[in-house]
Amino acid sequence: MDHKSSTTQSLYDRIGGETVVKQLVSKFYDRIMKDPELVPFFKNSSMEKLRHMQTEYFRAALDGPLTYAGLSLAKAHQGRGITARHFNLFAQHVLAALKELGVNTEDIDAVIARINLLAGEVTGGPAASD
Ligand code: HEM
Repeated sequence: MDHKSSTTQSLYDRIGGETVVKQLVSKFYDRIMKDPELVPFFKNSSMEKLRHMQTEYFRAALDGPLTYAGLSLAKAHQGRGITARHFNLFAQHVLAALKELGVNTEDIDAVIARINLLAGEVTGGPAASD
């Protein structure tokens, strides 16, 4: 284990900034749309809403506080039947996309840790591992 990681640069900058984030969103989108367990959640969603959601998702993952000014995350997701399993599938797609883009393991772990902090709000229950 080494502890040389920079604490001054944001995760967003470390993984490659806007260029990599754009590639990430596009890869993530492709993966979600091919996942039979996730695609039904979005069948009535507009591209615009989805893009908004994904932008917020990656902001949450990389940049710290959400800038989203609409409904709370809990309200936006309640009653949709999103379970910890769906949440984790989401996270796995992000992980795979980050790997494909060559992001290092340490930064990938940091992204996943950030995202997991929001699990309770999205699923309406405590963060779980399954
Ligand atoms: C940290 C994780 C997540 C964040 C930050 C997030 C963020 C958001 C935001 C900001 C919206 C409102 C979008 C808008 O009205 O423009 C939204 C809506 C939504 N989210 Fe998420 N989300 C997360 C996880 C999930 C998961 C795991 C699922 C399902 C598997 C999901 C399904 C949905 C659906 C179905 C909508 C409604 C879209 C629509 O209005 O058509 N979200 N999300």
